Amino acid sequence: MNNLLVREPVLQQAAALLRSARSLAVLTGAGISAESGIPTFRGAGGLWKNFRPEQLATPEAFESNPELVWEWYDWRRRLINEAKPNAGHEALVILEQHFSALTVITQNVDGLHRQAGSASVLEVHGSIWRVRCTKCRDEWEDRRVPIPCPPRCKCGGIVRPGVVWFGEALPMSVWHSAECAISQCDVMLVVGTSAIVYPAAGLVPLARETNARVIEVNTERTAMSDSVDLALTGPAAEILPLLVNRCAH
Ligand code: OAD
Ligand code: ZN
Repeated sequence: MNNLLVREPVLQQAAALLRSARSLAVLTGAGISAESGIPTFRGAGGLWKNFRPEQLATPEAFESNPELVWEWYDWRRRLINEAKPNAGHEALVILEQHFSALTVITQNVDGLHRQAGSASVLEVHGSIWRVRCTKCRDEWEDRRVPIPCPPRCKCGGIVRPGVVWFGEALPMSVWHSAECAISQCDVMLVVGTSAIVYPAAGLVPLARETNARVIEVNTERTAMSDSVDLALTGPAAEILPLLVNRCAH
């Protein structure tokens, strides 16, 4: 409980806000999976400290060196394959039982929300278990660990990870559903994201425009901590269960 800086009255306030919600949207980022052993991108121990995004997570990087990009994704697939949902993911599943309308919008590609049992999950950055042929554009699930670097399609084309890279558009229908969920919600919970990568980060101001109240859960203060209604500081796997527990009473 070293990092848990949140106090009981703040937890109670957050729980009261949640209880008052008719429709709840949750935006999650890498921080919610940190306690499952999956490194975040930024912050202490973040992946982008050791790797440059433009060398690994862009279409240009893939075109110039698909082997290198696949080696990195293969390494992440290995980590994710061994990871299990944590108490933070599980708390969101329990929260779902209190709300008829709860959508989890995640920037994570690890699939842990679905694995935990969340019913309504929008993976706006795709999934690390999906792959797509760069030639015939066919897309499918491939769970091989390790995966050949690079894998090939039946048509002979090079296969790429089915995730969204820097400079690429988000899957349109998933993104549209995310915007809808945000414009309909009256409370938004933002968990474990630095909220600086757009367009996903733009969902927070969008919620504010439609007068939703925003609660943030993060181990650190972020760029948006000052503009949210309540910022709860501490690990998601500790804070979310405490919060959900107080919602039930
Ligand atoms: P980041 O790595 O940018 O941010 C992770 C956030 O989680 C930080 O604000 C940390 O303070 C916080 N955090 C760390 N451990 C936590 C814990 N145990 N509990 C709660 N919070 C914790 O990750 P994202 O915001 O998800 O995109 O990054 C957004 C996108 O940038 C990713 O989807 C990825 C990345 O580059 C692409 O690859 C396109
Ligand atoms: Zn193909």
